[in-house]
Amino acid sequence: MKYRGKFITFEGPEGSGKSTHTKLLCEYLKNSGKNIVYVREPGSTKVGEQIRQLLLDVKNKEISDITEVCLYMAARAQLVSEVMLPALKKGKIVISDRFLDATIAYQGYGGGIDIDLIKKIGLVSTLGIKPDLTILLVTDTEKGLNCSGRIKDRIESKSLAYHKRVRRGYLKLAREDPRRIKIVNQDVLISRTQDIIRELIDKIIKK
Ligand code: TMP
Repeated sequence: MKYRGKFITFEGPEGSGKSTHTKLLCEYLKNSGKNIVYVREPGSTKVGEQIRQLLLDVKNKEISDITEVCLYMAARAQLVSEVMLPALKKGKIVISDRFLDATIAYQGYGGGIDIDLIKKIGLVSTLGIKPDLTILLVTDTEKGLNCSGRIKDRIESKSLAYHKRVRRGYLKLAREDPRRIKIVNQDVLISRTQDIIRELIDKIIKK
């Protein structure tokens, strides 16, 4: 798939600081005059936000593991065709809070769904687009799960063992693709973590 834009994703287990850092990065890029499009997964389209509600609602206990995969992929397929690909073709920088790596880490390593199957469905739902850079923010699993302070959604409510597998899964993905996936450990100072992220992003968008 050929396009002029750059595609950057943020990933990480629960409470890894993705929202804070994507927000700060978007402000930084906008202030430097860059044309950016920010999206989150699942969501950022009308259909995707409805799928998000379905997926995260604790009342939907009966959602099966494979249904969960298909719903994340459906939201992704809509987002790629409606927002991401058109923006990338126009030469914009697309910043996404999560993408296919999240399904591999959560439903694959966390939930035990076959990784190759996820990658195959992923190829269809992403239309083959791949991030130029992925920032993997990591933090301690228990600290991360307890940091939001709000009532846990359906995914956050899964067991501690599940979330530990997700974290390990993400680290495995980073080891397998160190050129694309850069691990950024949370510093006590948000600004210090953000500086590291900006340095990595600058290298990619200046290419
Ligand atoms: P968020 O909290 O980062 O907005 O993501 C929503 C939740 O959905 C979060 O608990 C991670 C989970 N998730 C998956 O389990 N699989 C996926 O493919 C994606 C994109 C998110």
